[in-house]
Amino acid sequence: MKKVGLIGWRGMVGSVLMSRMMEENDFALIDPVFFTTSQAGQAAPNYGKDAGQLQDAFNIDALRAMDIIITCQGGDYTKDVYPRLMATGWNGFWIDAASALRMEENAIIILDPVNGQVIDSALNRGLKTFVGGNCTVSLMLMALGGLFANNLVEWISSSTYQAASGAGARHMRELLTQMGTLRDAVAAELADPASAILDIERKVTAAMRDDTFPSSQFGAPLAGSLIPWIDVPLANGQSKEEWKGMAETNKILGLGTGDIPVDGNCVRIGALRCHSQSFTIKLKGDVPLSEIHQMLAAHNDWVRVIENDRAITVKELTPAKVTGTLNVPVGRLRKMNMGNDFLSAFSVGDQLLWGAAEPLRRMLRILLA
Ligand code: HSE
Repeated sequence: MKKVGLIGWRGMVGSVLMSRMMEENDFALIDPVFFTTSQAGQAAPNYGKDAGQLQDAFNIDALRAMDIIITCQGGDYTKDVYPRLMATGWNGFWIDAASALRMEENAIIILDPVNGQVIDSALNRGLKTFVGGNCTVSLMLMALGGLFANNLVEWISSSTYQAASGAGARHMRELLTQMGTLRDAVAAELADPASAILDIERKVTAAMRDDTFPSSQFGAPLAGSLIPWIDVPLANGQSKEEWKGMAETNKILGLGTGDIPVDGNCVRIGALRCHSQSFTIKLKGDVPLSEIHQMLAAHNDWVRVIENDRAITVKELTPAKVTGTLNVPVGRLRKMNMGNDFLSAFSVGDQLLWGAAEPLRRMLRILLA
């Protein structure tokens, strides 16, 4: 049985990964070794299998003994440990949730329902570093994979509506605290049906703008508002999150850097863990909507084509519906006023599942097959 080292299993993405691995019975197929950055020697968690003691995640010799390493520990850990481990001539497989290695020449971005062939070809060439993609990119490709697979996409412009979880666990707590603070500021007025709504709004807005409003994580109010910037600025005016759209999409698909232009605005909104995206897609031709529906639906087992009907859309195409599931609904499908080769679409997906943990455990399964 392969020895699989697990690092960062206690964090948010790691916890989702552990729970998916339990659900899919992955632990039965491996000899798990749990690593820690702070509690070496303590008892390892038991996911249906005794895994002995926690090992030191900075102990290169202990890491070298692994056949496969899966890390959700974050980019700083990867940047520190990966080069030192590789320098020893380690011959194992490195599967990483962090972005640090994504654009390295010898690293493959993994999303096997979309780029299984790219992964197979990399394995045949002896590549051993496999990295999960940016969540919005992976969720876009899961939703629109049928269009890419049929070589129909000339370019895509996207507007994202990204959940707090993409920024981290503390940010999710802050969003909920912000929501509670706003509600508490007008609790008495809300209980009184005769109170004036604009008075309520003024109080809420004042609370949001108050220096004491809890916003140390996001740096701005998110509840009752939005933040049109995610990640660091780049010299060309994009945010890094926006830059990833084109860079990672083309790399995942095994294309040249700029083959399919992808660009748009990435926006943080007050959802908990589902990223939503609105797309303007320039098609390579006037393909009938019925064919587009078929291509999208046939692409993978998780995409769900949602009829462009109001009642169905508000029920099925929302974070409230999708959170905690592997389903990736795509809807609002219609041709646009710009012409019949312009397609509008909207998708929703759980950013901790297909956006983070799921491609990692599926890569493990590919290696074990
Ligand atoms: N960068 C993403 C976000 C999450 O901030 O929502 C990770 O892909």
